[in-house]
Amino acid sequence: MKLNFIFSSVFIGFLSYGFSTSAQTKKPVTPKKAVVVAAVKALIATPLEIEAGKLLISKSDCMACHGIDNKMVGPSYGSVSEKYPFNMASVANLSKKIINGGSGVWGTVPMIPHASLSQEDADKMVKYILSLRGKAPSGVPK
Ligand code: HEC
Repeated sequence: MKLNFIFSSVFIGFLSYGFSTSAQTKKPVTPKKAVVVAAVKALIATPLEIEAGKLLISKSDCMACHGIDNKMVGPSYGSVSEKYPFNMASVANLSKKIINGGSGVWGTVPMIPHASLSQEDADKMVKYILSLRGKAPSGVPK
């Protein structure tokens, strides 16, 4: 807990340092922000896991109901990636949903359960889906 607090303070310190120096030099903040976002993503999902998730999705029945950037029976993966922050809580929540099925978030049509899917594989699938934020073509319905 204490260690966590120290880590957060250092991290916040690092962030504000990054922002204040860029404010002084009047450089756009975006590249630094992108680096921080990429670093946080790398802590949650490795590129290998994301690739594995993509492959698992292509081998499963997912694409029968989901498109990358077009709504089908279910929401597009682009929309899902815009709706949830890329963190462990989202990964846990969404992989549980894939395994158990459910409805009510995107409409009344339910997603069928995928009971034979392991937690590990479902996690990788979600990491791939969440990695699409900002990559799916624009105009993605939210
Ligand atoms: C029979 C159609 C169908 C199949 C097959 C299907 N889905 Fe879905 N999926 C849906 C529907 C419908 C929803 C919206 C559910 C809701 O509104 O809560 C959904 C929602 C989702 C969500 C968002 C959940 C939320 O709570 O926001 C994710 C992530 C997802 N699906 C991933 C997958 C993956 C990965 C697979 C393959 C293992 C898959 N789906 C297979 C129909 C399907």
